[in-house]
Amino acid sequence: MPSSPEALDEASPPTPESLAWVEVSIASTALEALAAAVPLFERWGRGGAVLEEVPGEGRACLKTYLPADPSGERAREELALGLALLQRLYPDLPEPTFRRLEPDDWAEAWKQAYRTQHIGRTLAIVPSWEAYAPRPGERVVRLDPGLAFGTGLHETTRLCLELLEAHLQPGTRLLDVGTGSGILAIAAAALGAAQVVALDADPLAVRAARGNVARNGLEGAVQVQWGTVPGGEDNEWGAPVLGLEGLGGPFQGVVANILAEPVVRMLRAGLPGWLVPGGVLIASGFLVRQEAHVAQTFREGGLAVVERREAGEWAALVGQKG
Ligand SMILES: C[S@@+](CC[C@H](N)C(=O)[O-])C[C@H]1O[C@@H](n2cnc3c(N)ncnc32)[C@H](O)[C@@H]1O
Repeated sequence: MPSSPEALDEASPPTPESLAWVEVSIASTALEALAAAVPLFERWGRGGAVLEEVPGEGRACLKTYLPADPSGERAREELALGLALLQRLYPDLPEPTFRRLEPDDWAEAWKQAYRTQHIGRTLAIVPSWEAYAPRPGERVVRLDPGLAFGTGLHETTRLCLELLEAHLQPGTRLLDVGTGSGILAIAAAALGAAQVVALDADPLAVRAARGNVARNGLEGAVQVQWGTVPGGEDNEWGAPVLGLEGLGGPFQGVVANILAEPVVRMLRAGLPGWLVPGGVLIASGFLVRQEAHVAQTFREGGLAVVERREAGEWAALVGQKG
C-alpha cells in the first residue's frame, strides 16, 4: 500500500531505529552463487545488500535486513522463493539464516559497520555518533544512515560522490533522484551547490534523508521530497511523479544513483530536458556490463558522455547536454 512520509507520521511511525529487524544472511565459500544472490537481496532487503569477504577464510557473507513486522513478511517470502529458484542453478547455495535483531542490536550492528570515510579529495562522510575534527579544507557530511541505502560504503555512492566533486559547479542547482540517506544531496550542498532538490520514492528514505539534512544544518539548501520523476512511476511505494516546474527546474546538475532500468526509463521519459544547456547528468547504480546500454540512452537524449568511472563491477557515467 502506498504510504507517504506524512502518512507514516500519522500512524505513530516506526522509525528505522525503533523497529525490530530481521537480518538475513548467507555465509558460504560458494562465491559465485553468493554473487548471483546479490540482486535478490538488493531487491527484497531494505537499504541494500552487503557482500563481505571473511578475511583469510576463503568465504564471504551476504546480508540484508527486513522489518520484523507484517510489512517484511512478503519480502521475506519473495526472497525465499527467489533463492529456492536460484538453488536450481547453484545447488551449492546454502539456505539463508534469519536472525531477529532488537532495536539496540540494530543500532550496534550499524555502528560497528560504519566508520568515517574519506572520499575524493575533500569529502569526509562521518557517522553522526562519531566525534570528528575536520582537516583544513575538508567538507564534512554527517550521516545517520538509518535504513536507507547510501552509507558511502557502496561503490556506486562513492563513484557519484567523486563525480560530484569533479563536476559540480559552486552556486548551482542540483536534482538528486533516489536520494536514499540524502548522502549525495548533502555532499553537493557541502561542495557548494546553492540549492538541491532530493527525491526518493521510499517514504523511509525520505525520513532518513530529512533527518540527515537537519543534522548537517542544511534545511535552507536541501529540500527532500517524496516522489519520483517521469519514467520512475513503476516503483513499489506508489510515489507520485513530480513535474519540472513544481520542483523549480531546470537544473545545472542531476544525479541519479538507482539501477540501470529506472535510469534508462527516466532518460527516455525526458530527464535530459530537466538540464540547462551545458548541464551535467551523473548516473550510476548499473553494472559495467550494462554501461553501453545506458551510454547509448544518454546519447539518444542529447547527452555527450564526458566521463566514465568504474569500481568493482559497478559503473558511473557523466553526460553533458549540448
Ligand atoms: C541505490 S540507492 C541510492 C541512494 C543514494 N543516492 C546513494 O547514492 O547512496 C537508490 C535509491 O533510489 C530510490 N528509488 C528506487 N526507485 C526509485 C524511483 N523510481 N524513483 C525515485 N527513487 C527511487 C530507492 O528508494 C533508494 O533510496
